[in-house]
Amino acid sequence: MIAFMSWKELEERAYVPYSNKPKTCIVQGESGKFYPGVRVENVSFPITIPAIQAACCICLADGDTPALLIVKDHQSLEQLDFWVKEYGMKVNVQTKIDDIAFEDPTVSVSSSTVKKELITLLSKAITIHSDFPVSALLFCEGAIISGSNVEVSEWTKGLCAERLAIAKAISYGYPVMNTMSLHTLKGEFSSPCGACRQVIHEHMPDNQIDFHHADGTLSTHYSKDLLPFSFSSTSLTK
Ligand code: THU
Repeated sequence: MIAFMSWKELEERAYVPYSNKPKTCIVQGESGKFYPGVRVENVSFPITIPAIQAACCICLADGDTPALLIVKDHQSLEQLDFWVKEYGMKVNVQTKIDDIAFEDPTVSVSSSTVKKELITLLSKAITIHSDFPVSALLFCEGAIISGSNVEVSEWTKGLCAERLAIAKAISYGYPVMNTMSLHTLKGEFSSPCGACRQVIHEHMPDNQIDFHHADGTLSTHYSKDLLPFSFSSTSLTK
């Protein structure tokens, strides 16, 4: 399935309940394929995923390399300088994007093939620093979205598999998330980091998260148990 969009439609996907200022961009990979990226805010503001980080990491996790950055105007996109320099991307300002075709990011998995798919996905991880691949499958309303961790030259600019899957689901228009499965082969116990728990909690606070461990066992958890006493405040608007 190929989808076309306007900037307005892409902006509507941005998860910006705290700023109400949507930010979006599109990255074209060396393969010619286009990847959307939207800003994904978090109640803990510094955990926010900027649009350009989302788009570049989605592109990289697809086995592609960012080549061109398409923006609506010269709005200040966070991390712009870093990503443009990292991949020597050209920057195009385009007022219209309705001729850009986006491919369907959905993977097809059944309950009996989840583990197999998670293992296959590990090979998509980019782990230039850690050699520690992680994979995630996010079961959304209308789509199953994959994620694997991406590391770039700066440690703090990469994304964990779980957060990549969430940023990808939102950027492709699947904001309703039901469950997540994750896997690492090298960890003794596959488990999401604190930052991922924070982002998981924002989008699926009462949902089931399945940890597929390296020894072949599976443990099932609930996001609210993974982040007890989670940070929130009624003075932060949502
Ligand atoms: N990593 C994940 O993908 N998910 C987590 O929950 C923990 C850590 C990745 C990030 C980095 O690429 C590598 O594992 C080592 O931290």
